[in-house]
Amino acid sequence: MALTQQKALLIPEKSAPFVVGLRAIPSPGPGFVLVKILATGLNPVDSAIQKFGIFAPEYPAVVGNDAAGVVEAIGSGVTNIQVGDKVFYQGHWASDRSTFQQYGLADAARIAKIPDNLSFDEVATIPLGLGTAALGMYGKKGDRGGADLYPPWEEGGIAKYNGQAILVSGGASSVGQFAIQLAKLSGFNPIITTASARNESYCKAAGATHVIDYRSVPYSDLPAAVAKITGGPIPFVYDAISVPESQKAGWEILAPKGSIVFTKQPVVGKPGAEAEDGKYTAWVFGLVHTEENQEVGKSMYDKLTDLLAEGALKPNRIEVVPDGLSGIPAALERFFAGKVSGVKLIAHPQDAP
Ligand SMILES: NC(=O)c1ccc[n+]([C@@H]2O[C@H](COP(=O)([O-])OP(=O)(O)OC[C@H]3O[C@@H](n4cnc5c(N)ncnc54)[C@H](OP(=O)(O)O)[C@@H]3O)[C@@H](O)[C@H]2O)c1
Repeated sequence: MALTQQKALLIPEKSAPFVVGLRAIPSPGPGFVLVKILATGLNPVDSAIQKFGIFAPEYPAVVGNDAAGVVEAIGSGVTNIQVGDKVFYQGHWASDRSTFQQYGLADAARIAKIPDNLSFDEVATIPLGLGTAALGMYGKKGDRGGADLYPPWEEGGIAKYNGQAILVSGGASSVGQFAIQLAKLSGFNPIITTASARNESYCKAAGATHVIDYRSVPYSDLPAAVAKITGGPIPFVYDAISVPESQKAGWEILAPKGSIVFTKQPVVGKPGAEAEDGKYTAWVFGLVHTEENQEVGKSMYDKLTDLLAEGALKPNRIEVVPDGLSGIPAALERFFAGKVSGVKLIAHPQDAP
């Protein structure tokens, strides 16, 4: 008899602690597939949803945004994916589409097959981190949009911004790692980033040309440090960290008519608007499924398997947390404690005790 129930990490009600419990295995409607989730990535937003109740309209709620697994069933109209395919995808803020559970629904329009050179754990590092980097750089402009650059995965996109300087603040973060890699594909050079000294080689392996240790060079001194490399202001800044001091430094470094992308609410500039000197501020929303992001999301997911197989894009470094779903809450606390450095935390929902 087919399984009808699964284990999931539930938030029983707003701001209540996580608890492992049972919920129904959903069935895929038109255009969706059901995935047995073998690996899920952890993100800072997951604990914010649990603690503050954002993005969780119904309780009990399931969260989790990054998944890799095997397709168990397909809905009507799905032609690009088959039962048994190994896939990864970005979850959504609806419990059936979230990833801290053993089975989830995925939209077949934005899903990618796992290339042979990568594991379930590795590709589970990709969806939110890459989505946030890509949508910030190549997403359409808008209140919660991107900078509308031309993507490297489209015809003629490789090296399109050849020789232009970029600053990626937070190069050791998941989002920062992908922003550096995309910047490299887009031809930006130099690619300057901020990270702790211990993560210098991690950032250079992603494509950074200069790594500035933000623990010894404070953000107030960053404009001078960047100017030493570039000789002056630069046309593009991606601030993966977006704390007030990194935002202010990025704004100062940005040239008139340049673009700056923030992952958190801007304290400088106005999201989706140009300042008087033409500096454009983007406040990215890293979900490929929103109406504004779907088109860019689909064009990227259609190319992802090949980009990963060629090594043009690489997953984050991983650390697998123990105890399946029940190990996730303690691991999420590490984001608040600043105890995640240069690594993506991965959990295995099928190991749920
Ligand atoms: N807007 C959106 O849709 C969206 C989507 C995803 C994420 N986010 C936000 O984007 C941020 C990054 O997310 P993530 O998942 O990439 O985080 P993460 O991987 O957990 O970030 C951890 C890394 O941040 C680095 N870091 C911390 N403070 C820093 C600073 N002041 N300067 C430079 N690097 C610093 C650390 O580098 P070292 O170890 O080298 O010190 C650490 O490796 C989070 O605030 C997250 O909430 C927003």
